[in-house]
Amino acid sequence: MSNKTILRYTGNQRTNHWLVAILFLMAGLSGLALFHPALFWLSNLFGGGPWTRILHPFMGVLMFVLFLGLVFRFWRANYFIANDRLWLKRIDRVMKNEEEGVPPIGKYNPGQKLLFWTLLLCMLVLLFSGLVIWRAYFSEYFGITAIRWAMLLHALAAFVLILSIIVHIYAGIWIKGSVSAMLHGRVSRGWARKHHVLWYRQVTQDETRAETPTRPITKKG
Ligand code: HEM
Repeated sequence: MSNKTILRYTGNQRTNHWLVAILFLMAGLSGLALFHPALFWLSNLFGGGPWTRILHPFMGVLMFVLFLGLVFRFWRANYFIANDRLWLKRIDRVMKNEEEGVPPIGKYNPGQKLLFWTLLLCMLVLLFSGLVIWRAYFSEYFGITAIRWAMLLHALAAFVLILSIIVHIYAGIWIKGSVSAMLHGRVSRGWARKHHVLWYRQVTQDETRAETPTRPITKKG
């Protein structure tokens, strides 16, 4: 491992993340085209109205499946720890970039963790409500009341998801070095120490352990 930088995301994690981001854009834009006549012009991006309607659910399912990849990869790092509650209480200091009184945090801050679980909830609601309103294959198994509720929930979950992703992108740009971490995989030691000190300590401890021989080296012969 290089002395200057720390690995934050492997190639597979980054590919997985950016594929989800692309699918989110495609499913989101095609969904907006179907949501309101004022946005129907977006359907031109997908080959017109009928194609948008055919493709949107498939893009949604693919986004969900790829998102599950992110969930399995980042699930553990998003468990809440004792310090998180205090960090959230001191959010005003965090916003002002003050360090005093702000407890140390792990690989993700509690804001990122809340966002992670919100994304998962939205994705689950979108998937299940989406299946109910997928006329080509599943809608015939449900009554009109279920379909109406599913439509409402689908739109609500999409709304929350889109807002959450706007916050996610804003936060990623706000914390300098984050986008580069998701693009190139590595962060500086200073970045890790400043933003995620518990994670930094854990990574550097692992490094030290890896560098320390467990058995004394003896000369053979
Ligand atoms: C479209 C533009 C997007 C940008 C610019 C972006 C940017 C980023 C950045 C910079 C990070 C690294 C944060 C860090 O290491 O502290 C990250 C992590 C992550 N992103 Fe995105 N992202 C985008 C879209 C999405 C979408 C659509 C999703 C899922 C629906 C998503 C889910 C995640 C997850 C799960 C993580 C790991 C953080 C965690 O587990 O709490 N991202 N993203």
